[in-house]
Amino acid sequence: MPTVVVTREPPIAVVQLNRPEVLNALNEELMDDLVRSLEALDADEAIRCVVLTGNEKAFAAGADIKQAFVEATPVSMLAQDLTTRWERIRRIKKPIIAAVSGYALGGGCELAMVCDIIVASETAQFGQPEVNLGIIPGAGGTQRLTRAVGKYVAMELVLTGRRVKADEAKAIGLVAQVYPSASWLDDAKALARTIAEKPPIAVRLATEAIDLAQSATLDAGLEFERKAFYLLFATEDKKEGVDAFVNKRKPTFKGR
Ligand code: CAA
Repeated sequence: MPTVVVTREPPIAVVQLNRPEVLNALNEELMDDLVRSLEALDADEAIRCVVLTGNEKAFAAGADIKQAFVEATPVSMLAQDLTTRWERIRRIKKPIIAAVSGYALGGGCELAMVCDIIVASETAQFGQPEVNLGIIPGAGGTQRLTRAVGKYVAMELVLTGRRVKADEAKAIGLVAQVYPSASWLDDAKALARTIAEKPPIAVRLATEAIDLAQSATLDAGLEFERKAFYLLFATEDKKEGVDAFVNKRKPTFKGR
């Protein structure tokens, strides 16, 4: 059984984590397959937006505790080179929507947070329960959760390991949309198709600008935004968008 299943439905693709017997726990094989699949889709001209998902019961229940942690030492953890894989996911240029149903815990929550948008089924549960194992989040959880929900909520969630359900996740700003459990994946795919219809260069630069807001100073972020804004006036898609507006027709964007 492949650990990751890719379904191309141009202009979108669905990447499904596929270790259901362990609630999609993230082992090395799955992470390698995931990175390779996402990079292939990033290079695929027919694909403009990716949905990353699991199954109804779990997006991912975190690092594979039994495989990775039982005998682990600092040296063996270092040798796994976790950071490189996560950085490669972070550098994917096409927008990735994390569509979460069921558990998104530990590394699973961190994987959702490394994506560009998180949407959830009403059954979703998010959490950083590492403290219960005597460790802390190790794939960006303390940093990205804090940036998403603020210091005080992040602190409470990381120090207690408490799980938050979909509605609370939306209320604290971790989730963009909560969808009914009967249609969550279709709804996430519809969102991906909406984004896939937009001008790809504008989508890419908007994604980069918003990401920069997580790490840069306001001045540096505004500077990037201003230059990206000007640059877009050189694209065919800007001509198409403005012309379509003026002539009251639907635009067709080509990514040029
Ligand atoms: N690693 C390995 N196996 C896991 C797993 C994980 N993270 N999560 C679940 N599983 C396995 C279980 O061991 C079980 O396997 P068996 O049938 O062989 O016993 C199977 O998946 C089903 O799980 P449960 O029987 O526990 O299912 P449940 O519905 O009763 O509970 C759960 C679900 C609350 C998610 C529970 O499985 C759980 O607490 N899992 C661990 C969550 C966790 O602590 N995640 C953080 C990991 S650390 C991390 O991610 C570090 C990082 O920053 C990268």
